[in-house]
Amino acid sequence: MTLNISVIGTGYLGATHAACMAELGFDVIGVDVDPEKIDSLSRGELPFHEPGLPELIRKHVDSGKLRFITDPDYSTVGAWADVHFIAVGTPQQPGGTGADLTYVDAATVGLAEGITKDSLIVGKSTVPVGTARRLARLVEETSRDDVAVSLAWNPEFLREGFAVKDTLTPDRLVVGTATDADEAVLREVYAEALERETPWISTDFETAELVKVAANAFLATKISFINAFSEVTETVGGNITTLADAIGFDTRIGRKFLNAGVGFGGGCLPKDIRALQTRVSELGLDHTMTFLDEMDKINLRRRERVVTLAENILGELAGKRIAVLGVTFKPLSDDVRDSPGLDVANRLYTAGAEVSVYDPEGNANAAKRFPRLGYVDSLTEAAQDADLVVLATEWNEFKALTPADLDELVAQKQFIDARNVLPAADWEKAGWSFAQLGRYY
Ligand code: UGA
Repeated sequence: MTLNISVIGTGYLGATHAACMAELGFDVIGVDVDPEKIDSLSRGELPFHEPGLPELIRKHVDSGKLRFITDPDYSTVGAWADVHFIAVGTPQQPGGTGADLTYVDAATVGLAEGITKDSLIVGKSTVPVGTARRLARLVEETSRDDVAVSLAWNPEFLREGFAVKDTLTPDRLVVGTATDADEAVLREVYAEALERETPWISTDFETAELVKVAANAFLATKISFINAFSEVTETVGGNITTLADAIGFDTRIGRKFLNAGVGFGGGCLPKDIRALQTRVSELGLDHTMTFLDEMDKINLRRRERVVTLAENILGELAGKRIAVLGVTFKPLSDDVRDSPGLDVANRLYTAGAEVSVYDPEGNANAAKRFPRLGYVDSLTEAAQDADLVVLATEWNEFKALTPADLDELVAQKQFIDARNVLPAADWEKAGWSFAQLGRYY
């Protein structure tokens, strides 16, 4: 008999996980408190952009393997599912730096109260270390005496833009469990990946929680590390991309996540390094992770650097027309949370420039966040009569740009490539004043 699976929280992580579990052959119910979200997911419509996911959801809604419901007291899934994945958000606390656990706590306790058959609750949300052990106690206290309910922790490492692929074919699977029986249930869930010999890391709650934040902190550190060297090459000369290539050939270092530019953003890396720093301070380890504060500062200084470059090129920004290309935190996403590109656009606007923004997917979300910027529907409209063009997110259509595409449009041939993705020499040869991050001027 195959397992019935519920996924609590149908945001980015939950919707992807639910669809992928159905793709693996399980019957799945996705649960959310928001009836509108449930309606649109049931029609295969997503409130965010993720390649391949709407098609996968429609496929399994149509096949009957995937349903979305609101289940306020969890009585439906509590009587039906054998495994419940918790995939609700853990945002940065309003006005603080720690993680807000309100939703995880509420979902876990609500579920534990609603469950009427033996089952396993599996946390997927990113949480501060110590949360799983606390929740396991809460589950024990709140679940009915006549059913056996236990808790496991199984962090998720998917990247936006590659969510379906990363979930169906993960690099590794990490499970923190209290008993071998709980681990055996998760082995059944992930049997297909295990057949492909995906590394399986079975561990305790604390390690499972820490693997997730350590991975994100390490990635953020790699990016800030190369961006710190950008500050050196900007001062003394040298080529930051060649430097990254050269150290990246050392397989102990590796080339990935050493792309210097305007820095990291999104809903995960920035909040996770802040939450980790906050958590270790709570544990009395104030000095252990102070380097993460530095990573955060290096990252934010990159945004200011773009504004400084714009001022160096244009002088006074007031009254100048600047095209900003790309305002999502990275390509293949419509997510503008903590987006470096959008922050730069807003800083340029605040400094008095007339800013014209074009992003292939992110305009609508960006406009909700900063309605006063000008938003246009194409690259050419953005660049029309611009005194300066800033490439802030490396979408393919921007990476393919050549000087000839813009020569006739712009008022002045001035460009900042804040992601270091275009061939500077070609642009300079075509008469452009062309700036990149990590370059000496
Ligand atoms: C990140 C992690 O990569 C995932 O493994 C993790 O599961 C996820 O967070 C999460 O915790 O949910 P994601 O936020 O989708 O995934 O984005 P990344 O691809 O990691 O990029 C993060 C930021 O770093 C982007 O703004 C990107 O432009 C920037 N970046 C990345 C650089 O500036 N340089 C690089 O070399 C690489």
